[in-house]
Amino acid sequence: MQVKCVGLLGVSLVALAIGGCVGLWPASAAGQATHRFAIGEQDFLLDGQRLQIRCGELHFARVPREYWGHRLRICKAMGLNTVCAYLFWNFHEWEQGRFDWSGQADAAQFCRLAQKEGLWVILRPGPYACAEWEMGGLPWWLLKKDGIQLRSRDPDFMAASRAWLKEVGRVLGPMQVTHGGPILMVQVENEYGFYGDDAQYMGEIRQALLDGGFDVPLFACNPPYALRKGLRDDLFNVVNFGKDPADGFKALRQVQPKGPLMCGEFYPGWFDTWGFPHHLGNTQQYLADLEYMLKNNASFSIYMAHGGTTFGLWSGADRPFKPDTSSYDYDAPISEAGWIGEKFKLTRDLMAKHLLPGETLPEPPAANPVTAIARFELGQSAAILDNLPSPIDDKTPRNMEAYDQGRGCILYHATLPGGPAAELSAKEARDFAWVFLDGKLAGTMDRRSRQYSVQIPQRRTASRLDILVEAMGHVNFGPEVHDRKGLYRPVVLKAASGDAVEPSAWQVYRLPLDQPTLAGLKWKTGKVSGPAFWRGEFDVANPADTFLDVSTWGKGVLWVNGRCLGRFWNIGPTQTMYVPGPWLKQGRNEVIVLDLLGPQEPVLTGLEKPVLDQLRPQLDFTKKVQQATLTIEGVQPVHAGTFAPGAGVQEVRFTRVAEGRQFCLETLSALDGKAFAAVAELDLLDADGKPIPHTVWTIAYVDSEERISEDGSAMNAINGQTADFWHTEWSQAQPPHPHRLVIDLGQTTVVSGFRYTPRPGNNSVGGRIKDYRLYVGPSLAKPVP
Ligand code: GLA
Repeated sequence: MQVKCVGLLGVSLVALAIGGCVGLWPASAAGQATHRFAIGEQDFLLDGQRLQIRCGELHFARVPREYWGHRLRICKAMGLNTVCAYLFWNFHEWEQGRFDWSGQADAAQFCRLAQKEGLWVILRPGPYACAEWEMGGLPWWLLKKDGIQLRSRDPDFMAASRAWLKEVGRVLGPMQVTHGGPILMVQVENEYGFYGDDAQYMGEIRQALLDGGFDVPLFACNPPYALRKGLRDDLFNVVNFGKDPADGFKALRQVQPKGPLMCGEFYPGWFDTWGFPHHLGNTQQYLADLEYMLKNNASFSIYMAHGGTTFGLWSGADRPFKPDTSSYDYDAPISEAGWIGEKFKLTRDLMAKHLLPGETLPEPPAANPVTAIARFELGQSAAILDNLPSPIDDKTPRNMEAYDQGRGCILYHATLPGGPAAELSAKEARDFAWVFLDGKLAGTMDRRSRQYSVQIPQRRTASRLDILVEAMGHVNFGPEVHDRKGLYRPVVLKAASGDAVEPSAWQVYRLPLDQPTLAGLKWKTGKVSGPAFWRGEFDVANPADTFLDVSTWGKGVLWVNGRCLGRFWNIGPTQTMYVPGPWLKQGRNEVIVLDLLGPQEPVLTGLEKPVLDQLRPQLDFTKKVQQATLTIEGVQPVHAGTFAPGAGVQEVRFTRVAEGRQFCLETLSALDGKAFAAVAELDLLDADGKPIPHTVWTIAYVDSEERISEDGSAMNAINGQTADFWHTEWSQAQPPHPHRLVIDLGQTTVVSGFRYTPRPGNNSVGGRIKDYRLYVGPSLAKPVP
């Protein structure tokens, strides 16, 4: 008997004795018995027996197919009885209507392998996933439709989502426990409470899964403070948190008084973004919380048990725009290359204390071999400007998606008339643009600091303008997923006199960085400057895992034997790229590198260890905000106050509505009397008291941010995630209060109030602000000219 979720939990269920453990893990491939999985009053029930789900997340799209079995065996050895896997919609339907379930995308095979290793599966098919994956898993082609509202009951979005979930049902429906497979339960959407509160939308996605043939329990996941949003009584709920399970489950019980307690995402580490420190989790805290859940009969899913690598151009970007690294090591118990260390061992030892009678843990398989590759040079090159495909003519530059392109680079060409020096600007350029005049670099545009103008020198005659735009991953979180790439018009050339020209004849060159892009390159021997592809060969006697040292290169993408391994960027923190052994050939191997900046040296070396934590901010091609000048002298604060202790969100309404383009938080003291300030999230309220979207917000000034021993960057205060936070310096310096953080709101904005989410954790955490002042004005910080 399978019970409906939540409201019906009262319905009496068979209380269950903790019987023998037969049937509590999937039979191997041979005995494809079907099973009943249900949500009981207190426990998950498998064939009527209590099951504590000890789950870990790994993404088959992020693990070389050849290593799926290896990683699953390690998960089993770590004490997991279940693995949780997202389906990234765009990975299976990069072109609308063309589904791919082969090779790395063979989800059914992944499920079969999990079953073979004695692991159940929790499936998370979306349509939206997040996961630091390109557009959160949503397909770029949805953005071709102007005005489409993603993750809503927008008819175009719903039609595409239903088609996707119907396809998922066709392929993975047979993998459910009810049909002899390992899938226990299926998630509807992902942390929808972070995004909206339309329960009907959740209902329609739920129905699409039912229509797709899913008959195992369906559930929703959210962080503790968003559980009520989109809440439905026909969906079971799990809660996501990185620590303090007691608090998390307390919040869960407030919306779901009965049923098993489950943490849907429990974070042992965190993801990395380019230019910010590598994240290391707090292992002691992680183990203590895991033990708490094991002891209290709570189920959980470790996010990530094994992070792997976001190969290709699949890495996304955190909001408002913090592109994710290709390495997704996540400081998980099982490392990017499948290595096991202290964290794995401690997790396994802990799990071993909470096994069911008769349950034992197998030994972990040996690590895969690694090899070093001697330093070699890439002797061939192909400049981008010399290798352009046939153009598309257009009167005005449009977004990349409008030219039917979902990723890579795009070059916009026009002719500028002769004339005086002038400023060339675009409304936006997503995400980075290199502006060339007659083939010579005139300047760059950078979405991180919303720098979209370049000085153009005097031109005696008409000149060739080329704007090469690189798209990093589509933002994967928040309303910013509506992240169309490329140039945003108008693109205007404005002279000091005020005369302005908007070119009206453009040639647009698509460079999706796919196989045809590489196949069309005309290689030359020797070096080249500027954005270019480079090619080299190296020999391998015994193919094995290695880590390519890319530290002498600038910024770009790398392929080995035609496989795109991901992105690199010299600012770090990642300075190596993982190369799975099975993707190398015995003998001659080929490597191609696209470098948009140009290498210090066009050489590569294969290392036996990864480098994931080396920041080199001095190599960044954008000025740091700290060089801006604060200009709040003489400005009247719109509010002054004292925050209460605790982690709860605190809201302040101003006595008078304020208006301005910039907002400044000035901290005067901390609750613990120390020199630090920290903020998990800042929200500003509009005239109606509603939170103002952060879409075009940037950090205009911050006096201090810890960027060495942890990612305490100011950007964390406006990225919508409360698991990370801005923290002033503490490791190498401890500047005192007052601390100032200035946000540029992108336009003049009416502000009636403010919401402060303190740094998460118990009252001993540092940086909790006491006295403070707030300012709103046209300009509270000036960038250095
Ligand atoms: C959220 C999402 C996950 C992932 C983590 C951060 O909780 O649900 O997909 O993005 O955050 O790694």
